[in-house]
Amino acid sequence: MEQVASARSAAGPRHLHARPVAIALALAFGIAAAVPASAAGQALAGQAGQAALAEQAEQAKQAERAKQAAPAARPWLDAALPADRRAALALAAMTQEEKLSWVLGHFGSDFANKTKRHPAALPYSAGYIAGVPRLGLPALFETDAGLGVATQAGPTPRGRTSLPSGLATTATWNPALAYQGGAMIGSEARASGFNVMLAGGVNLQREPRNGRNFEYAGEDPLLAGSMVAAQIKGIQSNHLIATMKHFAVNAQETGRFVLDARIDDTSNRMSDLLAFQFVLEQANPGSVMCSYNRLNGVYACENDYLLNGVLKKDWGFKGYVMSDWGAVHSTVEAAKAGLDQQSGWEFDKSQYFGGALEEAVANGHVPQARLDDMVYRILWAMFDKGVVENPVAEGGAIDFAANRLVSQADAEEGMVLLKNANSTLPLKSGARKIVVIGAHADVGVLAGGGSSLVYPVEGNPVPGIEPLTWPGPVVYHPSSPLKAIQARAPGAQVIYHDGLDPVAAAKAAEGADAVIVFAQQWVGEALDAVSLALPDNQDALVAAVAKANPKTVVVLETSGPVLMPWLDQSAAVLQAWYAGSGGGEAIARILFGEVNPSGHLPATFPASASQLPRPVLDGDPKNEKVRFAVDYHEGAAVGYKWFDLKGHKPLFPFGHGLSYTTFAYSDLKSGQQDGKLQLRFKVTNTGAVAGKDVPQVYVAPLGMKWEAPKRLAAFEKVDLAPGASREVTVTIDPRLLALYDSRSKTWRIAAGSYKVLLAHDAADAGARTITVKLPKQVLNVNGKPLK
Ligand code: BGC
Repeated sequence: MEQVASARSAAGPRHLHARPVAIALALAFGIAAAVPASAAGQALAGQAGQAALAEQAEQAKQAERAKQAAPAARPWLDAALPADRRAALALAAMTQEEKLSWVLGHFGSDFANKTKRHPAALPYSAGYIAGVPRLGLPALFETDAGLGVATQAGPTPRGRTSLPSGLATTATWNPALAYQGGAMIGSEARASGFNVMLAGGVNLQREPRNGRNFEYAGEDPLLAGSMVAAQIKGIQSNHLIATMKHFAVNAQETGRFVLDARIDDTSNRMSDLLAFQFVLEQANPGSVMCSYNRLNGVYACENDYLLNGVLKKDWGFKGYVMSDWGAVHSTVEAAKAGLDQQSGWEFDKSQYFGGALEEAVANGHVPQARLDDMVYRILWAMFDKGVVENPVAEGGAIDFAANRLVSQADAEEGMVLLKNANSTLPLKSGARKIVVIGAHADVGVLAGGGSSLVYPVEGNPVPGIEPLTWPGPVVYHPSSPLKAIQARAPGAQVIYHDGLDPVAAAKAAEGADAVIVFAQQWVGEALDAVSLALPDNQDALVAAVAKANPKTVVVLETSGPVLMPWLDQSAAVLQAWYAGSGGGEAIARILFGEVNPSGHLPATFPASASQLPRPVLDGDPKNEKVRFAVDYHEGAAVGYKWFDLKGHKPLFPFGHGLSYTTFAYSDLKSGQQDGKLQLRFKVTNTGAVAGKDVPQVYVAPLGMKWEAPKRLAAFEKVDLAPGASREVTVTIDPRLLALYDSRSKTWRIAAGSYKVLLAHDAADAGARTITVKLPKQVLNVNGKPLK
């Protein structure tokens, strides 16, 4: 077995059936904690959890006592005071030792046979930070991540509800659904005893092969920022701290611990950083996680420009910066650059924020005021989010049936109908023979790997697929598309074929009334997909089946974009992403027209790798220790902006998504609201069935150049009965009409004419357009007009 790379484990050969997936893993720390993939169960039972349970029970008592104690004795517990006042009061009551305990995080699982889980941490959790019971301040219990309550590798994973992938949620273009999903996973985190959820991944998709794209929100700063902000608001509605991550420009997994992301400040502020800025403004997350990579030569977690400069000074972030697990490289530099908490110190070379920090403060290398500020920020987040008043306890009730429906609703609205020739879908009733092929569609839907993996409550229906160790195991959510299809076609013969032999699968498909072939691509944290092609000979499978039966419908369970050499032969293609706990049901409901698809692509699907800014992925997955730079020469021209700029025709453009009905746009008019550009227009459902549409507003400058010909400036999700119309009004964030000027730290809108396009997607040739004239305007770093 090749020695590979990850923050968590050595991983073995990785394949779904027996595929040689060439992937990049990162640094080797080397734990190999095999997880019996079928193990599940709601509670993490046993001895391991006892200490954590006891601590949580004690904390609940403390919180109760604290509430009763006269606020005069512990005034920081007076919830009527503002969070910053409370943080200052609590800080003032602390010893130096207590202060230091807040800035050092412990991993919640045994690590690399070197260290043991901190006894007070919840078993197989991401982390633990000791509280100060004396002062009524609870410990912090951390869990991943954006798809739900994850479990670190261990023998008895927590079974919890998984949302569909982040890209799927983003593909809904419906912030209300993202909020509901966030509220649901946050409630499961709380019921599981966690008060910090490491969720809110908003790294822009610059690299379609990135193995973590499924955790993120696509390629556009406005869309990604709006959707992740809504999710974080939902999570924090449970009185938890959410974590916006990974700050910043952590755009590929290959070489993530060593790579140097090179991008100029201006481009960064108009792309990756803008997505983070939108999230911060809209959702006010309690914490931010700095990333593994370097940015312009300096590690993100000791990057003064990024942490002190952009985040804290320019944007006024009031919460705390925690490191990613294994992302700290120094004590003094990191502390001075703005890192507030070392996470899971076991992943770093040393307890940089332990004794070393104590010493650095004692000898003056790190000012006492800096340590105080770190602690103040952590306390501020705890008070501001209500963590102190609402103590968590493990073992809370979870309504899995209800939560699964929340996930399913998200999946249903996020699936994207890419192609539907001759109205092949929805499937017609009366089909006598339906053939379902491939991707274990008889038993479940695929999940992505790594720290964000949420284990199914009912166990993994397809155990044993490699990698068995982190970022594996490969897990399927036991929501069977086959059974859901059978349930909707009681009069039909529904046959399943595993698809391993394309010739046999094609034979099975011959003459059927409907053929649904599932194709999949497993990726996970610490690795990237080797190419944009589907792995495991699945292109040959789809091609053979489509040749045998022209009615073939393809369902894709992939992290992100893949190539489709068989596209012309297929009748319909549904992008189902990683579909989560109710995914099989969601797929069947769309196939049969119980749900009208309304997902739209949050990322461009390229026609070939040669169209990308980096046709070949940088770095060497086999040699993860060698430092290298990634030159983000495309700057702010990310995704569709790059394709526009270069005149590339994608396979499917950003924003694309079909419906079983049709929509028309009219009456596009411009106006103004509080000095901001406003647009009004009418959307009409011109078809025969109800449906949801996503009108997209793009703006293109006429007399000058931006980083790309146009930008997404606004969108709306509109639900319309057949024949119905709705007037929509959207207001444009002025930063989306401006260029950022690094020197003056201002956004500048140039006076002149701009074309406004009301479009179905980024390549819509039939977009409605008007021209608007904008006056010159200068805005501060946060997009507020300068007086
Ligand atoms: C990931 C983070 C995660 C952390 C804790 C890291 O490997 O990059 O996203 O929150 O582990 O599990």
